[in-house]
Amino acid sequence: MSHKPDPNKSVNLTIDGIPVTVPEGTRILEAAKKANIKIPTLCEHPDLCKRAICRICVVECDGRGKLVAACANDVWEGVSVVTNNLRLLDIRKTIIELILSNHPQDCVSCVRNKKCELQTLSADFGIRESSFGRIEDTAKPVIESGTIVRNMDKCVKCGRCVEACQEEQTIRAINTSRRSHDYGISAPYKQSLEESPCVFCGRCAAVCPVGAIYEHDTTAEVWASINDGGRRTIAQISPELTLDGCGTGKIITALKQLGFDKVFDASVSEQISNSELNAELKQRLSAGGKGKLPMITGNIEGVYRFVNHFYPSLADHLAVGRNPRRIFSEEIRGKYAEEEKADVSAITPVSFVPGIAGKYGAGGKTDFALTSEELARMISLAGINIAKLAESSFDTVKVDAPKGGVDAQKEIVRGFAQARKVLETVLNGEFASQWIEIEV
Ligand code: SF4
Ligand code: SF4
Ligand code: FES
Repeated sequence: MSHKPDPNKSVNLTIDGIPVTVPEGTRILEAAKKANIKIPTLCEHPDLCKRAICRICVVECDGRGKLVAACANDVWEGVSVVTNNLRLLDIRKTIIELILSNHPQDCVSCVRNKKCELQTLSADFGIRESSFGRIEDTAKPVIESGTIVRNMDKCVKCGRCVEACQEEQTIRAINTSRRSHDYGISAPYKQSLEESPCVFCGRCAAVCPVGAIYEHDTTAEVWASINDGGRRTIAQISPELTLDGCGTGKIITALKQLGFDKVFDASVSEQISNSELNAELKQRLSAGGKGKLPMITGNIEGVYRFVNHFYPSLADHLAVGRNPRRIFSEEIRGKYAEEEKADVSAITPVSFVPGIAGKYGAGGKTDFALTSEELARMISLAGINIAKLAESSFDTVKVDAPKGGVDAQKEIVRGFAQARKVLETVLNGEFASQWIEIEV
């Protein structure tokens, strides 16, 4: 029978000779931090379960030769842990060199340049070249629904993305496929993510330590619009957006300097979207529409994919009201075109969204969604020092929000794992509120 750790019980041990006392159930990796010792890791991620795949974190315990993964093993009373000796350094260096032998090493042109965990490890271990030959991969980057790029040429087989998708998000859209240097991450049966249950939450990209899964950059298209004399490019940003510690006042000035014609307040689109949804709920209530309450809404389009795929019997609970990005590209853009007597089809709307999840559903020439990271790259490329800029105000346009909604009881559910539990109660007829908002 396995022993359940008691966090109220203390364990005494030494790490590289330094005495440490930690609660029972503490991993060696965490105990080492208490002694101010950083054990290198690659597959480990603080939000994910123990997987112990890469073995970079191996340590020796009690002078025995056996190697123990510090990220996956708990301390025990009296253990003497060694994190650093020539044997361990040599093992870690060999592992990194083996990974590099099947890695393109095109760091300067990689999206994760300067933010890559493999690059940092290689630099820390002073690796200039791999002692092993190179196995060239033939995998090409695949753009998935204009949102995520998978470049399996760069995968280091850490398994973080699979864990995030399967266990944390409960979606199970991706898994490992093939073996050895051919190993990759994909949806089953060579499906694209669009064909799979993927909800485009972007967690796989967020946890990937290298440039194997990342957001699809659409700044080139936005630059093209800005530099097209026949087009106007308009932006909407949230009043809560910050960049390098700068608030919206400076961000608006930066966007104007980049060449955006107008910058609007995204909270206006949010209000209109909310009014539309309230009006829709009122109509659902008055129609007494059997089976159509609670109304289900989501802050990203992936929520609609989630309900349609996993709970198809609840599909008619999904609101048809528009989200703030669509309001901007349809309503605000239309009113702006009217006021300026401009051709609406020659206006490019760009919504700035907090993360990859907000990109899904936007695309093409009619509607762009850029993340804060993409905005930061545009500002950096233009050589703008945002901290030194003066503050500007939002542009405005006259729009009418639909009136006559209801004061509804809205239950906000965070994340897909939680959403499953709540949607099960809807199916069982145990859910009492009129409105579920799933936020990711
Ligand atoms: S975007 Fe989300 S749902 Fe899709 S594969 Fe990645 S983690 Fe899974
Ligand atoms: S794609 Fe990234 S997160 Fe997934 S296994 Fe490969 S390196 Fe790890
Ligand atoms: S970090 Fe411990 S095995 Fe990968």
